[in-house]
Amino acid sequence: MSRASETRWVNPPLEGTPITSERYTSSDFMESEWEKIWTKVWLLVARTPEIPNPGDYSVEEIGSESFITVRQDDGGIRTFYNVCQHRGSRLTFAHEGYTNRFVCPYHGWEWAKSGILEQVPDEEDFPGGSPCGELSLVEVRCETHAGFVFITMNENAPSLQEYLGPVWDDWEQYHSEKWTRTSAATVAVDCNWKVPQDNSCESYHLRSVHPQGEYWIEHDYKQCVFDWCLEGHNRMAIMMGIPAKSLIEKDLRIDDQLASMLEPWGLNPQDFEGREFETREALQKAKRAMGQDRGYVIGDLVDDQLTDAYHYNIFPNVTISYSGCEYVSMQRMRPHPTNPAKCFYDNFTYGAAGSESDAALAGKGGKEWLSEGSQREFFTYGDRLMNRRIADQDLSIVTGQQLGLASRAYAGVNLLAQEDRVQRFHDVINRYLESC
Ligand SMILES: [Fe+2]
Repeated sequence: MSRASETRWVNPPLEGTPITSERYTSSDFMESEWEKIWTKVWLLVARTPEIPNPGDYSVEEIGSESFITVRQDDGGIRTFYNVCQHRGSRLTFAHEGYTNRFVCPYHGWEWAKSGILEQVPDEEDFPGGSPCGELSLVEVRCETHAGFVFITMNENAPSLQEYLGPVWDDWEQYHSEKWTRTSAATVAVDCNWKVPQDNSCESYHLRSVHPQGEYWIEHDYKQCVFDWCLEGHNRMAIMMGIPAKSLIEKDLRIDDQLASMLEPWGLNPQDFEGREFETREALQKAKRAMGQDRGYVIGDLVDDQLTDAYHYNIFPNVTISYSGCEYVSMQRMRPHPTNPAKCFYDNFTYGAAGSESDAALAGKGGKEWLSEGSQREFFTYGDRLMNRRIADQDLSIVTGQQLGLASRAYAGVNLLAQEDRVQRFHDVINRYLESC
């Protein structure tokens, strides 16, 4: 039984929006996206377990805006523009931290974590009386689901649950509210934000960009379940923990990465010689038998969710992939404030309670990223790797694609059916651009 095949989405007809060069290169197009998409949709800005206590905060930039998300005394979470209401200064350039008050670096105005102005130097000098207790930072709507904090600059946006549509129920089943960060990288890349998101909308590139995946992912599109919903998001379910059938003709064996999936669950890779295609089912049985005792909350997951990748493109700029019951990874493509040919690519991973025992596997096949630690690293593409092999491989193609998309020779795409979600992504972009 498969969650994806049991709960197919609406899959509205594709509209064939031309995927033109200007979408990736034009400042005018970028401005339209800002006005009609970024300021209208729900945007992922934080994760609840990263700000567990009152005063813990997280700051995120989206284009030209910056948002402070801060845990309140009552346990709630609120988000404010990172803009002092005195003379417009940014309040902080930190990305995360703890504070009781945000003190503007310019004139020292002090804002409580509730957004209210608390203290001002020379308070008696205001002609109309002190604004303390009256003036507030500008707040945006903020809602959470599955531990992810979303905001919207749009006062008229639907609720987050309505916005996420069928994604809401899928995520609920993992009980991932408290899954904690295991790695975090932010990479400045020379490509439009849509280039990596296009990449995340198709699995056609697996065999060429991620050839090692053949040993533990069934990459054949006929074995995957692809969906897109009316709300603008996509889903892909792809079998993991099993060699691809295409290996029969080549090199069918249990490689190090598949072994590193089997061993933590008490399965001996050598036992699968000659029955390599039984690994996924054996993993599902082992996880079902042992998972609960190890701290995993898997009672709501059907068997395929215990092993497979459930990959969600959340419109516009986030891809969330649940990797079996153990991990969820977040890729987020944030637009550059002014340059359509640049973006910021975030790749964060979170581990379920129970997955801590995997720390012993750090550095082993496919688990390189576990040795990175949870500290967020910022760098420029080319300076170093993220040590997340799949993500590093994905970024290795985006700058070259951006160059080609900007060329006079680029005449638009020629998509295969298994790349329908790329087309759908651009159809949804145009649906927003053409509204109002
Ligand atoms: Fe990829």
